[in-house]
Amino acid sequence: MAPDNRIALCPGTFDPVTYGHLDVISRASAMFETVIVAVVNVPWRKGQTLFTAEERIGFVKNATRALPNIEIETFSSLLVDFARDKGAMAIVKGLRAISDFEYELEMDQLNRRQAPEIESVYLMASPKYSFLRSSGVKELATFGGEISDLVPDEVAALLKERLGR
Ligand code: PNS
Repeated sequence: MAPDNRIALCPGTFDPVTYGHLDVISRASAMFETVIVAVVNVPWRKGQTLFTAEERIGFVKNATRALPNIEIETFSSLLVDFARDKGAMAIVKGLRAISDFEYELEMDQLNRRQAPEIESVYLMASPKYSFLRSSGVKELATFGGEISDLVPDEVAALLKERLGR
């Protein structure tokens, strides 16, 4: 399928989705006609996820109900192959800090070699979320830290249930 410049992918593991991810997804939804949230579903990648793919999808679905142009799917192939299947022209990601830049530059160049027709588009993290990552939220949840302003309520509740001591 030829890339369609109205379609973008927002990819990630989303284990779990945070307000930082949701900020990028909602900003992308204002820029493109259709945004497909692409949830990685490769159990052996980066070790086990805390939440199943179904749970991770459910969190994103519940948190994006107000956005009319979001679709949510899992993928277990190369990201660019999934983008090609969906006809997406853009892969939209958030950039927080210099550390993200190095990783994302590498990802962009790998992806570009495989699929030069697909552009990666980076949105700068909103300042209030520039420190936020899923692994940090899980660490806070493990030791009883305050996470209610970092993830949706249902995510916070399940994190506390699964990780709280
Ligand atoms: O940081 P995340 O959320 O785990 O990122 C996941 C993803 C897929 C966005 C990132 O790993 C990426 O850009 N990968 C490109 C290379 C690729 O296609 N890997 C296979 C993933 S199933």
